[in-house]
Amino acid sequence: MTEENTKASPAPRGQRVFFALWPEDATRRAVLETAAPLLRPSGGRAVNPENLHLTLRFIGNADGGAMARLRRGAERVRGKPFSFELDRCGFWPDPAVLWLGCSRTPPELLRLVVNLNTELGSEGFLVETRPFRPHVTLARHASRAPEAGNIMPTSWPVESFSLVASETLEDGARYRILDSWRLDKR
Ligand code: 2AM
Repeated sequence: MTEENTKASPAPRGQRVFFALWPEDATRRAVLETAAPLLRPSGGRAVNPENLHLTLRFIGNADGGAMARLRRGAERVRGKPFSFELDRCGFWPDPAVLWLGCSRTPPELLRLVVNLNTELGSEGFLVETRPFRPHVTLARHASRAPEAGNIMPTSWPVESFSLVASETLEDGARYRILDSWRLDKR
């Protein structure tokens, strides 16, 4: 069962997980290149490059039974590969993050999230009521919005999505891919 996402919620146990798009190395490098001039002016602490991702659906704490249902739901998600552009940088004062996002969310990305949420719903996970705000967090504890102006757009090819565990270490969070599902065979 999960902390916040199932209809019945016993004491939290298990691991903290979320679904995400995970960048290939070339995409990660391009994101880092775009991010480089934006980080210092934000006053924030850069996210570890290995942790860069785009969350599709945050789940929270999941035990063994919930993990099995998450995997079953994900297995049924249908979709085709697509790509999209990160072409916008923004700042949310609360929770103080600097992020990259898209000025136009591609319909394929929205469809993927809707399909995933539908399948998770049929596995007993609560319907996600928060709006989907696709973003890649670049820095936390940021204090300033980026200057207005164009950024170098980054193209992100998507061929799969992943279930990721979030672990808290002494030096911050570490994300670990637990499983991935390809979109091309579906
Ligand atoms: P963030 O990058 O905007 O902080 C792992 O923690 C991922 O899930 C991060 O991308 C984080 O978004 C997102 N996340 C963490 N806690 C969340 C919550 N309670 N609700 C929604 N998303 C969350």
